[in-house]
Amino acid sequence: MAKVIAIAIPKGGVGKTTTAINLAASLAFCDQRTLLIDLDTSGASGLGLGFTEANTKSGMFEVFNFISGLNHTVHKTEIPNLHVVPANVHTLLREERLMKLADNRLILKNALRSVENDYDYVLIDCPPFLRGLTTNALTAADSVLVPVKSGHFALDAVDKFFKYIDWIREVANKMILIEGILLTMYEQSTKVTEITTRELQAKYRKYVFESIIPRNAPLSEASFYGKPALLYDINSLGAQAYLDLAREISGRSSTTKPVMPKAAEPIALSRQA
Ligand SMILES: Nc1ncnc2c1ncn2[C@@H]1O[C@H](COP(=O)(O)OP(=O)(O)O)[C@@H](O)[C@H]1O
Ligand SMILES: [Mg+2]
Repeated sequence: MAKVIAIAIPKGGVGKTTTAINLAASLAFCDQRTLLIDLDTSGASGLGLGFTEANTKSGMFEVFNFISGLNHTVHKTEIPNLHVVPANVHTLLREERLMKLADNRLILKNALRSVENDYDYVLIDCPPFLRGLTTNALTAADSVLVPVKSGHFALDAVDKFFKYIDWIREVANKMILIEGILLTMYEQSTKVTEITTRELQAKYRKYVFESIIPRNAPLSEASFYGKPALLYDINSLGAQAYLDLAREISGRSSTTKPVMPKAAEPIALSRQA
């Protein structure tokens, strides 16, 4: 039975999508059957794995409209154990329609039943707001991973989000756990990073992952080529940090044995059509 992890916090530009893509790829590289669901109407995590309008057959838009079962919207990627369901929302009309349908917070939870035995992990990349789609993800998830951009005053956003998760526990999903708070875009030895990290540790130490994601250019470069960082430059600090995170997460589960992948040569760059 898959473990379902929502990657969420109602803030944009904090590394949710980068984490969704690279953690999913890293889990798959560690022999975990992994499904990445792109629940953000911008479609960034689908795009980051090379799925454009031209090569997407169906996605979350069809699932929420009850046109396709989730199991029929799964797309294979370059990594054998990694599958993705793109958002497949390419117009404002489709975006509007999807947001409206997502007012029913049970749609994703019900849809996941068709794939729960096919994967070890299902990761859900959430939009930067709570309405509808994120609430669907939190209703369906076993746990939530909260990315926090280092050097920003994020404490307030985390406080508010944790209160929202308490509300979700009361009304929709009493079992949801905090998978962890992930420091992203970490820049060592800057004063603001030091202060904000100290504040976060003081209040939420037990939730903060040991793995920290550094600010590292290959992580953003890779998405331009429709690839996770480990297929772009596996030796980069960013790719290695997400592999560490995958091992930290899968090492918590007694049923999974994290395996260190072999270092590979970076593949030749070719921009997606
Ligand atoms: N660790 C990192 N190092 C460098 N750039 C990053 C890193 N994480 C994210 N980025 C870049 O920051 C921007 C926002 O990240 P993204 O993952 O899209 O955030 P979100 O999904 O929360 O909006 C993107 O351009 C992404 O490439
Ligand atoms: Mg995003």
